[in-house]
Amino acid sequence: MEIMKVTEQLVDHQLGRNIYDDSGRLLLPRGTILQMSHINQLLNMGYDKLAIRSETDLDNESENETSGETNPLTQAFTVAVDNLRDLMSKVSTGHLVGPGEVEETIELVFPSVLETNNILLNLQDLRRKDEYTLQHSVSVSVVSIKIGQLMRMPQHDLKILGMAGILHDIGKCKIPLDILNKNGSLSEEEFREMQKHPIYGYEIVKEMKLGDPRIMLAVLQHHEHQDGKGYPLKLAASKIHLFSKIIAVADVFDAMTSERPYRGKMALFKAMNEILTSSVNHLNPEVVSKLRTYVLSICPGASALLNNGDVGRIVMMNTDEPSRPLIQIGEQFINLREHRDLWVKDIIM
Ligand SMILES: [Fe+2]
Ligand SMILES: [Fe+2]
Repeated sequence: MEIMKVTEQLVDHQLGRNIYDDSGRLLLPRGTILQMSHINQLLNMGYDKLAIRSETDLDNESENETSGETNPLTQAFTVAVDNLRDLMSKVSTGHLVGPGEVEETIELVFPSVLETNNILLNLQDLRRKDEYTLQHSVSVSVVSIKIGQLMRMPQHDLKILGMAGILHDIGKCKIPLDILNKNGSLSEEEFREMQKHPIYGYEIVKEMKLGDPRIMLAVLQHHEHQDGKGYPLKLAASKIHLFSKIIAVADVFDAMTSERPYRGKMALFKAMNEILTSSVNHLNPEVVSKLRTYVLSICPGASALLNNGDVGRIVMMNTDEPSRPLIQIGEQFINLREHRDLWVKDIIM
């Protein structure tokens, strides 16, 4: 993708991102071949630069299409990330974002998320490519929907939950980039600023007039803790909305299992163990237990890297000790409950 100045030279070039009007309606979808009338319209609307698909983007896309490598859910995630990038850049430049844009982003992924059992596989693809906050927001949305599905929530609620997940960190648009992208640890003052993102987010989402107050609540409360020591309001567990509790669990899970510049990603079982331990004071235990059920349900069939370097296939989970499953390596079956010297270092979906 290249950012180019809006001039007549862009005629016949392909638009790299969706363009919306001030009320949030989609004006020109990504992929539009630009004509002189589009250029004039965009100049009138005050655009001076545009994202244009480069030769390399087009080559890569046609390669993917012919090799059939990219699966539809991964593609949907990628387009959702593009939409969210547009949405966030509009928010940070003070433009109005309408409910349509948020709904459109969740609609892109919602049907396939409901139907796909192992979404972690697709989230791994997404994590390879995109900026952290964007991919993290889509991941949190998708993992929250999965937890909500296990809680047997009706579809309408799942969609609202998904929208809250997409928007949970939108307040980070208002945090100065040098704090947001800092590699080292934050100073006390920077940390206090960072902790304002749920409030900034709440204000942004209020402006969007999404019609369901649960989205605003979840954005505001996703860093509150069970023991009342979270932020920004230090709410007691009984005052935290269920949606906020779900997003908090998905948020921690995604952060732990993602690669960051200052630390490597945590292996799936280790992350689950940490989440279970912290669930007493921090996260809601019932929601954590749903995430655990979900993660355990998608592990059989995945490859497991053992501490001795061997790679095997997970055949069956031991429910009372999930981090020690039954593994098959070649013809051999190893029950990790009985081989205490071996453990799973990582799971490759
Ligand atoms: Fe956050
Ligand atoms: Fe987050």
